[in-house]
Amino acid sequence: MYNAFFGFSQNPFNMSPDPAFLFRSPQHEEALANLIYGVQSRKGFIVLTGEVGTGKTTMLECLRDFLYAQQIAFASLFNTRLTVEQFFEMLSYDLDLRCNRLSKTEVLLSLNNMVLERAAAGRTTVLIVDEAHNLGWDVLEEIRLLGNLENRRGKMLQIILAGQQELDRKMEAPEFRQLKQRIALRCTLRGFNLQEAIAYVNSRMSRAGIKDQTIFGLELIEEIHFRSQGIPRLINAICDNLLLTAFAMETKTTALAMLDEVTADMRLDYPGEARFRSGPDYAEPVRRSQIPYRVE
Ligand SMILES: Nc1ncnc2c1ncn2[C@@H]1O[C@H](COP(=O)(O)OP(=O)(O)O)[C@@H](O)[C@H]1O
Ligand SMILES: [Mg+2]
Repeated sequence: MYNAFFGFSQNPFNMSPDPAFLFRSPQHEEALANLIYGVQSRKGFIVLTGEVGTGKTTMLECLRDFLYAQQIAFASLFNTRLTVEQFFEMLSYDLDLRCNRLSKTEVLLSLNNMVLERAAAGRTTVLIVDEAHNLGWDVLEEIRLLGNLENRRGKMLQIILAGQQELDRKMEAPEFRQLKQRIALRCTLRGFNLQEAIAYVNSRMSRAGIKDQTIFGLELIEEIHFRSQGIPRLINAICDNLLLTAFAMETKTTALAMLDEVTADMRLDYPGEARFRSGPDYAEPVRRSQIPYRVE
């Protein structure tokens, strides 16, 4: 809606996990390298954890691009509130297994044949599970058993579990000690530090067509970093709303007063919030009547 006004070729702060906008922070770089290494070296279980909005799904999208390019077959599950039956049905759809998809036994046999055939041809197979913290115990147990598919050259099915920190806590349970022990690689994503946040905002602006942007000043990005705790999803939401505000006010710069308004409207909690509401530097809220905020 504001793209033409600012001269963007596309929305810089889109919420979708689009690899075209990938910002290679050291931790994202490392996470992606781990995922790729884990798959290539047939490590078996790989776990990626992180708070909501830190970039887990984005990493999985990048991994999928890699798997496509390498012609590595994979199944990718997002909806993880599944029964065991639904899990096997989804798995068989994704891997295009030719069997009675409603029969767990048939799906397992067919999957076994598939990974064996692929392994014999020197190829591996991957199962990606996003939002894995939502998996029921019974489905997690089935996934653990799938991790047993192995030949002398390593695991035949690489399993990537991505989810919020509850996933780590779930694995602490005594039932999952075995699964926990089998995790070969583990990575965690956190919010950006200040330097990364600055580079992140600039990188997104640049990908959207504005090099050397001046719409967000350094001090403002510092404040955005503080209020978002460096979480990319929140940085996106704040910046998008700031751009909307600036657009509505027909200005090409953003200011602290706009940020106060935006974060208040987003009901954003951040440490020391009161300081900004009542401190001596507190600016009058921006007067705006009908700016349609997007809060995600
Ligand atoms: N390294 C990154 N580069 C570019 N955008 C990112 C990066 N990390 C996160 N994002 C953006 O932040 C938002 C949330 O990322 P997402 O992958 O959905 O997080 P999660 O799955 O951990 O909740 C998305 O809009 C995504 O594009
Ligand atoms: Mg996600």
